[in-house]
Amino acid sequence: MKKIKVILIGAGNRGTTYARHAFDACPEIELVAVADPNPVRRNHIKEKFGLPESACFEGWKDILALEKFADAAIIATQDQMHFEPAMKAIELGYHLLLEKPAAPTPEECYKIADAANKKGVSVIICHVLRFTPFFTTLKRIIDEGKIGKVMNINHYEGVGHIHYSHSFTRGNWHKESDSSPMLLAKSCHDIDILQWLVGEKCTRVHSFGTLSHFCAANKPEGAPEYCYMGCPAGETCPYNAEKIYACEKSHYISRAADSERPTKDDVRRVLTETNYGRCVYQCDNDVVDHQVVNLEYESGATVSFNMSAFNEGGRRIHIMGTKGEIYATMKDKTVTLYEFETGKKTDVPILDAITNQEITGGHGGGDRGIMRALTEFLCGTYNGNALTDISTSVANHLTVFAAEQARREGRVVTVEEYIEGLKD
Ligand SMILES: NC(=O)c1ccc[n+]([C@@H]2O[C@H](COP(=O)([O-])OP(=O)(O)OC[C@H]3O[C@@H](n4cnc5c(N)ncnc54)[C@H](O)[C@@H]3O)[C@@H](O)[C@H]2O)c1
Repeated sequence: MKKIKVILIGAGNRGTTYARHAFDACPEIELVAVADPNPVRRNHIKEKFGLPESACFEGWKDILALEKFADAAIIATQDQMHFEPAMKAIELGYHLLLEKPAAPTPEECYKIADAANKKGVSVIICHVLRFTPFFTTLKRIIDEGKIGKVMNINHYEGVGHIHYSHSFTRGNWHKESDSSPMLLAKSCHDIDILQWLVGEKCTRVHSFGTLSHFCAANKPEGAPEYCYMGCPAGETCPYNAEKIYACEKSHYISRAADSERPTKDDVRRVLTETNYGRCVYQCDNDVVDHQVVNLEYESGATVSFNMSAFNEGGRRIHIMGTKGEIYATMKDKTVTLYEFETGKKTDVPILDAITNQEITGGHGGGDRGIMRALTEFLCGTYNGNALTDISTSVANHLTVFAAEQARREGRVVTVEEYIEGLKD
């Protein structure tokens, strides 16, 4: 079997996840090189894939200084570091699996799409929800005409209060200027999936949302800067860092300590020396902790989207069509279809489109799903409908940027006018 050669740029959490799925579920893929300045992460990939030292690079500039030597590149660096390696990799002729957001500004998103279209390479944005059995099941029901034309969707993204505190108050996405606005960082997946389900272009948006809770005004009286310093509210505060990060086995301490097997010393360091040990009401965070977006599509179909930090976590969706409705919860893995003609309610099984099996795993099976889709795409055997071109992904990013403008300016924004405004 001819192998598809792939290089990995950014061997952090996401890069390692894709590499693992490539290894486990995509025998057609051969990972041939890695670039990451972090020697621990780089070596992890080196060992797992048996790479020679000459295939391990200290950064994207080094690996992309060479002539193209693989079919595709996975770019999984941080939000602010997608644009430059993406443009260089496109120039060299690599197909790309590019982490979301494509780039943090509309101008850069356009440039990536333009460059890819001119060069004739494919750029697949890691909108992993499209590859989850949950959302592909919903899409299939709609495409089969079971609920008629989609008129209205009510979609809810529960970020989860601990996840929010970890990533968006203390962690990598807590500050817009270092990463991107919450709607782009977290919910660009949802805006993308909603457009896919409605099947039309978004025309108008408006949005409300603020950072209301995770800020200094809500700091408990006498709370020190770091939780370990002995906070009077420590016992009852759900965000007490000592509760979230003290257990060496918790998923959050691995991320905070940047280690698969954190030690007691790592725990101590995280709690006393890093942002993850800080009081959540005293971080320099500025991204919203709740936001609603209303979207209107070409035919007049409407969507109401609600993102919130204040919940256990999980997505729920209610899709209403002219012939029926679907109510579905991602966390509980339920999809219920109600058909108007028969008055029948059915529980629809959520099956992996590839294996026809129930599936679990990273992002509800989406991480593995996107690697399979990439592999099949590169092998010329992909026959699903979830993969999308970069122009559609960028159009959906543009909806996000327009919604952010609507939120900041407190008005309805017409997507076309927003796009026209970018040309000034
Ligand atoms: N698709 C999804 O569902 C999803 C989920 C979470 C995060 N993300 C996105 O994935 C991206 C990566 O997130 P992460 O959590 O893996 O971050 P991370 O910090 O764990 O990984 C980023 C890696 O890039 C490396 N890096 C830094 N400079 C580099 C350089 N010059 N060349 C090559 N590598 C370099 C870092 O050392 C690090 O290992 C972000 O843009 C994030 O928004 C996507």
